[in-house]
Amino acid sequence: MIFESVATGGCRSYIVGCEHSCAAALIDPELSQIDRYLALAAKDGLRIRYVIDTHTHADHFSATQQLARQLDAPVVMHRASPAPFVNLRLQDGELLIVGRLRLQALHTPGHTDDSMCLRVEDHLFTGDTLLIGATGRTDLPSGNAEALYESLFGNILRLDPELKILPAHEYKGRSHSTIGQELSENARLQKRDRSAFIEMMHSLNLTMPTHVTEALRTNMSGGKTVSQMLAEAAAIVPFMSLAELKACVESMKHDLIVLDVRERDAFEVAHIPGARLLPRGQLELRVNEELPDPTRRIVVYCEFGRISTLATATLRQMGFQGAIALDGGMKAWREAGYPEKSGKAS
Ligand SMILES: [Fe+2]
Repeated sequence: MIFESVATGGCRSYIVGCEHSCAAALIDPELSQIDRYLALAAKDGLRIRYVIDTHTHADHFSATQQLARQLDAPVVMHRASPAPFVNLRLQDGELLIVGRLRLQALHTPGHTDDSMCLRVEDHLFTGDTLLIGATGRTDLPSGNAEALYESLFGNILRLDPELKILPAHEYKGRSHSTIGQELSENARLQKRDRSAFIEMMHSLNLTMPTHVTEALRTNMSGGKTVSQMLAEAAAIVPFMSLAELKACVESMKHDLIVLDVRERDAFEVAHIPGARLLPRGQLELRVNEELPDPTRRIVVYCEFGRISTLATATLRQMGFQGAIALDGGMKAWREAGYPEKSGKAS
């Protein structure tokens, strides 16, 4: 079996591949690591056939949907997953065939309703059901401490003690553990009485993961994250540097339209000399009267350089092929000590 593990902060993703057929499966991919997974698969001569989420992640952004599109491979999750973009929904005990490998899904609800572990040869990918020295939490949506108790003590902890466990999270840099090692050393698993275990899970008082709202929204719906929206907009627009715009503004000989897409009050406090005001919220509706010539070069700016990137992409989609985003925003312009003007829009 060909095996790769990728750590992203505390998150772990895995590639398992068959050396005979070069087919592979990717488990729990994270959005920021797409190029790394593809590079690793290429390095190992593997073709990724399945992209799998062990459960609905609440703490990071899943890359399954995007990778499935890029690789023409199905998104695989447990049948209980709420995500509409899942192509292949597994039930307890079902197998995926990856070359000569067999990946078996074990439904292990508790951390979430749709949690599953995947058993491949002597490896058990435990998602967030069982971590090294811990268990998945049960206080996030669809979590259930009683179900987790059953999934652990009634299911995976009864498997071969030699099985290597590979969790979806690991914060101390350990590569793996075994069922036997966890049974003897994992403090949470020493509570073997059902009610004591449930009480302990209910009293953990964990802090909420960062981005929980956005992660659940996007992972459950297949929608995009804010940074994806920005990256997609940035990929289809050219940028102008602050220094270049300053030189243009000072030469007075430019043919640029400098477009401020912030709100009116921010514009009136200070703006780039010669700028016109067209707030982002009114862009589509007022574009015909404000920007009648679609061939003009238009440099768009906002406060931080993010809204202006989205606005520039919108203008390009509307046919303004000369729209350019400022690389930076009014904040960076101000901090560079470049010239400003205050007062009402003309
Ligand atoms: Fe999780």
